[in-house]
Amino acid sequence: MVYPIIKFPDPILQRPSDPVTVFDEDLSRLVDDMFESMYLAHGIGLAAPQIGIPKRLTVIDLSFQKTPEDKITLINPEVVTREGKIFEEEGCLSLPDIREKVARAAKVKIRAQDLRGNWFERDADDLLARAFQHEIDHLDGILFIFRISALKRDFAMRKIRKLQRAGDW
Ligand code: NI
Repeated sequence: MVYPIIKFPDPILQRPSDPVTVFDEDLSRLVDDMFESMYLAHGIGLAAPQIGIPKRLTVIDLSFQKTPEDKITLINPEVVTREGKIFEEEGCLSLPDIREKVARAAKVKIRAQDLRGNWFERDADDLLARAFQHEIDHLDGILFIFRISALKRDFAMRKIRKLQRAGDW
């Protein structure tokens, strides 16, 4: 099943999601649906609140279906350590057409549960580190436009209102 992507300023995107506690077939199906919805929307990451499900669950595939081992499912993820800082452009399926540079840790170690509920750790740098931080932010109710300067955020808000008026949002 393909879910529509919820856009800013829907309040579900701006509050913390609840931990996943049940690791069953419904959860596996939801993860499959999230990958399907993400690919259809041409995204490389999707968090459950973006489809209206306030659970701490996210899927990522930087290869966009090219490499099966790049499909990553993170359940109840958290950042364990952060190192360095980089400033690169980001986008988000919930903020179409908005791209801004966001400061993120250059390297992170995260821990998360898999579909069976087993905890694992993973180190990441570059784009994957950025994707982990962006998606975990979603689970905490934080969108990337709240990590940029007030001036740039005002500019983004104006663009969003313009798109809304034109019926393109
Ligand atoms: Ni996003």
